[in-house]
Amino acid sequence: MSNEKATMEKVVALCKRRGFIFQSSEIYGGIGGFWDYGPLGVELKRNIKEAWWRDMVSGHDDTQTIDGAPARYGMVGLDTTIIMHPQVWKASGHFDMFYDMFVDCRTCKARFRADHVQDSQCPRKPSKKPGEHGDCDLTDPREFNLMFKTYVGALLDPTAEAYLRPETAQGIFVNFKNVVSTSRVKVPFGIAQIGKSFRNEITPRNFTFRSREFEQMEIEFFCAPETSHDWYAYWRDRRVEWYTSLGLKSEKLQLREHGPNERAHYSCGTADIEYAFPFLPKGEFGELEGVSHRSDFDLRSHMEGKLVRDGDELVVERNEHGQPRHPGSGKDLSYFDDTTQTKYVPHVIEPSAGADRATLAFLCEAYSEDAIPDEKGVPQERVVLRLHPRLAPVKVAIFPLIKKEGQPEQAAEIYRDLKRRWNVFYDEKGSIGKRYRRQDESGTPFCVTVDHQTSVDGTVTLRERDTTEQQRIKITDLTGFLEEHL
Ligand code: GAP
Repeated sequence: MSNEKATMEKVVALCKRRGFIFQSSEIYGGIGGFWDYGPLGVELKRNIKEAWWRDMVSGHDDTQTIDGAPARYGMVGLDTTIIMHPQVWKASGHFDMFYDMFVDCRTCKARFRADHVQDSQCPRKPSKKPGEHGDCDLTDPREFNLMFKTYVGALLDPTAEAYLRPETAQGIFVNFKNVVSTSRVKVPFGIAQIGKSFRNEITPRNFTFRSREFEQMEIEFFCAPETSHDWYAYWRDRRVEWYTSLGLKSEKLQLREHGPNERAHYSCGTADIEYAFPFLPKGEFGELEGVSHRSDFDLRSHMEGKLVRDGDELVVERNEHGQPRHPGSGKDLSYFDDTTQTKYVPHVIEPSAGADRATLAFLCEAYSEDAIPDEKGVPQERVVLRLHPRLAPVKVAIFPLIKKEGQPEQAAEIYRDLKRRWNVFYDEKGSIGKRYRRQDESGTPFCVTVDHQTSVDGTVTLRERDTTEQQRIKITDLTGFLEEHL
């Protein structure tokens, strides 16, 4: 019953077979680092994003201090553009510092991330690591900025250059003043955003784990400087709890605090929430979400200009004329706290999650294999996705046992009724065992079957995905049952 059999190959094969995830532009041979979500995948990912939004934003109760939080706080959302003023990325530091080191092979023209050379493959045969063929000719490591460049307007000259955002966070920082002045939020409060981000990764890999186009679910939480460490601890724990509440097992999740040398220059605390993805060697974990204490770095950067570290201080980087190397907006982004009558630049705690990595982790966790008896009692192996019902793409599948005796009509009526509330699927083709198995692979928590008895006593069979147990239930009780279990 465990998911120990969830190898990456099996998860990828299931995603393709059942229409969760396809390679982008597959009929043209695909394009590295881009993935499309199929009919089931789009529902799963939407459910993950909706659960995040509901649990973090729209369902948040700001009238009382919720468990574990240092105080009451507010939460609001934003939806900002992918292309922003290019100065945003200069002031934020991405223009100068958002790069990976790469090495090229002058012989085969392949490019490798400098820190991944040892676990990369040279594209030539026989397969060897880069540098291992006699005529491999690797360059020294060089910098490669990960931002995708584009042009805004008709002129393709440097004045029209812009970037696809590599994170959603900056759209939040540059709107801080707008949100404070138009909504009734008061520090402490968070602004959340879900949206696409783009990074021209040198070596996209491990299915959707490292893609070039992906979605982030980010919160920028603004608080008074002296309370920031308490809020940092709160958000770390809250976010781990969110994953476990939706089914990620705690032994496969870990919270890893970064050492001082691993943190970004602006951060005074970063912890990664990591998951034991099956493509990693046993005992290793991959980043699912980062929770960072970003101090006042972002708001100050957008006021004063790009900041650099000078000992314990963050100071504006200056050019040879003593001017900011990358000026900020010059707008006052400080906050006046009317309860303490003080003015300060809020500190920021940032829980930054990837919707695609979360989708992959939930898929890997849910994948399992077991054996269940078929109609003749013979054990048959099955693949089952044990997704949390909140995340399952389809909540209920409705089947007529046979295609006569009015069963399809009765089943369709139940389907239409439940469809008003949930994503429900109707299927009348193939043996009932095969129909169940197909839904098990899709992660559908419940199947409802209309049979001979239905027209006699108004009951149907309700089958539960994980246990395969069946019970008879009145059609009139179905909605109540599902309300309780979904
Ligand atoms: N604003 C902070 C920030 O963007 P990050 O650690 O670079 O921090 C946050 O990214 C999250 O975004 C990661 O934990 C991961 O879930 C997701 N992410 C980052 N790069 C990704 C990529 N190339 N493919 C898929 N997801 C990615």
